Amino acid sequence: LSQLFLTFHGIPYPVTMCTQETFQALDDFEARGDDVLLASYPKCGSNWILHIVSELIFAVSKKKYACPEFPVLECGDAEKYQKSVRRMKRFPSPRILTTHLHYDKLPQSIITNKVKILVIFRNPKDTAVSFFHFHNDVPDIPSYASWDEFFKQFIKGQVSWGSYFDFAINWNKHIDDENVKFILYEDLKENLVVGIKEISEFLGFSLTDEQIEAVSAQSTFQAMRANSQETHGAIGPFLFRKGEVGDWKSLFTETQNQEMDERFKECLAGTALGDKLKY
Ligand code: PPS
Repeated sequence: LSQLFLTFHGIPYPVTMCTQETFQALDDFEARGDDVLLASYPKCGSNWILHIVSELIFAVSKKKYACPEFPVLECGDAEKYQKSVRRMKRFPSPRILTTHLHYDKLPQSIITNKVKILVIFRNPKDTAVSFFHFHNDVPDIPSYASWDEFFKQFIKGQVSWGSYFDFAINWNKHIDDENVKFILYEDLKENLVVGIKEISEFLGFSLTDEQIEAVSAQSTFQAMRANSQETHGAIGPFLFRKGEVGDWKSLFTETQNQEMDERFKECLAGTALGDKLKY
């Protein structure tokens, strides 16, 4: 599998999506103070939150956000990246940026401009199961021989964008930063309206309850899946696969469950994020 990854600053990224040149170019990325950054480990719900934030911006500005111009900040070759940067310069504020990078790998301008950051987390078991299906369902990306094989690599952090746990440890250091808000996938599932209201308040928008309800109705799994071909093309149905909490039970063996629990304890027990995660 090693030829599938490009290792940059110790983290494996998929060679099919990331290039060394783009990582280098990111150093000069010019963030605006009113950009909104959505950060997540893969499969934690980034497309969900992207949709919610786009709809909220539409509700306040009435400008349909032509997003995502940067599907993921660090994805694409250098030419595509430069083209995106040029287009993003013409975009009205607030612009939405998305990333799977660790906090300390973000372009410096995001930090110095104190860009508002929404970080979406999901419990690592469902994240791993979603990631496995994505690899094995989507044509044109490498698949794994079995769930057991994927699980081994996931626990070792030898998957695209590296270890879930390293990502969590890194972002946990910023859980109390004023410009950073953590959102849980499981909380959104439990009460979408409340979750959307919190996001809207964090972004400084003042929307009526009716507007929040309308964004919520368009952001359910069913609504997003029904539109997925339109919004995401052929990949859509694979991206909006099941949208449930607890699907890990369909694949995890008891041993794998214990191994994941151990890892979780080692890495996150007693941390603010560890206490917050619905695990
Ligand atoms: S990616 O490829 O990393 O950008 O994937 P990402 O969007 O982060 O995560 C995909 C999972 O999020 C689920 N999803 C949703 N769940 C509930 N409600 C809504 N509206 C929603 N939108 C996306 C999606 O179904 C993937 O999870 P699984 O478990 O595979 O279904």
